Amino acid sequence: MKINALILAAGQGTRMKSSKSKVLFEVIDKPMIKCVYDNLLDAGVNRIIPILHPDRLDVINYIDTDEYVVQHETLGTGHAVMQAKNVLVAEEGLTIVLAGDQPLISGKDIKNLINYHKKNKCDLTLMTAILDEPFGYGRVIKDGEQVLRIVEQKDIQDVSENVDEVNISTFCFNNQLLFKHIDEIKDDNNQKEFYITDIVEIFNSHGLNVGSISIEDNKDSIGVNDLKTLAIVNEIVKNDINTKLMNEGVHIIDPSNTLISLDAKIGAGTIIYPNSVILGNSVIGNNCVIKSSYIIDSQIGNSVEVGPYAHIRQEAIIGDECRIGNFVEIKKSVLDKGVKSAHLTYLGDSEIGHNTNIGCGVITVNYDGKNKHKTVIKENCFIGSNVNLIAPITIGHHSKVAAGSTITKDTDPYDLVIERSEAIVKKEYYKNKE
Ligand code: UD1
Ligand code: CA
Repeated sequence: MKINALILAAGQGTRMKSSKSKVLFEVIDKPMIKCVYDNLLDAGVNRIIPILHPDRLDVINYIDTDEYVVQHETLGTGHAVMQAKNVLVAEEGLTIVLAGDQPLISGKDIKNLINYHKKNKCDLTLMTAILDEPFGYGRVIKDGEQVLRIVEQKDIQDVSENVDEVNISTFCFNNQLLFKHIDEIKDDNNQKEFYITDIVEIFNSHGLNVGSISIEDNKDSIGVNDLKTLAIVNEIVKNDINTKLMNEGVHIIDPSNTLISLDAKIGAGTIIYPNSVILGNSVIGNNCVIKSSYIIDSQIGNSVEVGPYAHIRQEAIIGDECRIGNFVEIKKSVLDKGVKSAHLTYLGDSEIGHNTNIGCGVITVNYDGKNKHKTVIKENCFIGSNVNLIAPITIGHHSKVAAGSTITKDTDPYDLVIERSEAIVKKEYYKNKE
């Protein structure tokens, strides 16, 4: 059966107090919309269509699809779904409708929803949560197991409606029935909005089968409307990631002060000191020591020492047994096994052969103001302190570059290369000046 999904993402997100789209705020380093998108893929959804605000079409660049629907006026979640009628009305199968600001509703949760919907032959199934503090959420009014309607917080009129079971904006519809009845939603409520939640009463009025299933873990249902809640979500995800890695044998000394992305992979036996940040698709091998460093989208082999305070970024590849010390920045470079760069160095767009030693303060001068150029340093070299290598340049294997040199031409294997002007000494120049 074909399964479509609509991600509602055209809201103004006013509570975030930002001009940026709410759904682009990140969970660790992944935009919320991308989390929702990945969770839908994980659930096996075939076609995913976000509903976007015309001023925020950039959102599409953060997910792997070109298909979207524009909601020109932000008239509510029901109005958002109406905008997809043209593209989906002819489709058979199911349509999942969910909000772009609920990044923790997992693929498994969505699968549970779909399975329940199919098994119970529902026309609409909504996912709910039972919360200690339901304030702010739409409340699910039931008669026994029968879902009658959803009442938004602002429309609650009677204490009997102040129930603790809430709508978490995750619906599974029979697609044909959704678009047959969607235009029956009206904006006759306190907010003058078209609520998707009104569809429950509409389906009931047509004698259709409305079911509900509660989410397994309440914390998955958190909707991010403000930065305070985003921080709560980040804390949950950070703890989940760190706990999983510790269970796999990664020694995180201070999990509350260690930030690791959802997609990073780290091998057993690696020790991570506090204040380390490991983001993107970084991969770190076994038995490394990472001391208070920032690593993004890079690969690090086994038994590598990093930091304190190193910055490794943009697809840097660091071989086994390398040592990267304090205040070393490595960008888009490949370091073979056993390279040492212990202090105060910039290695950008470079390739460094095995066992080469990079002295303190070495700079690969990769940018001429217009273009980036490559530095190749072959194996078993010794680059002295404070050397500038003006790229493009190749340093031959088993050679030494003397401290303080600025090298502009390629050098040959086994050479010693010194570039220093002789010191001018004015003998006892200051002796009788006073
Ligand atoms: C909504 C639900 C509420 C539920 C809560 C948490 C409605 C009317 N209310 O309230 O029952 O408890 O989520 O799940 O549905 N959006 C659009 N176009 C619009 C308005 C919103 O695309 O015109 C999008 C937003 O970008 C957001 C999502 O829909 O991703 C939900 O909107 P939001 O304003 O956050 O709704 P809530 O007030 O949280
Ligand atoms: Ca919300």
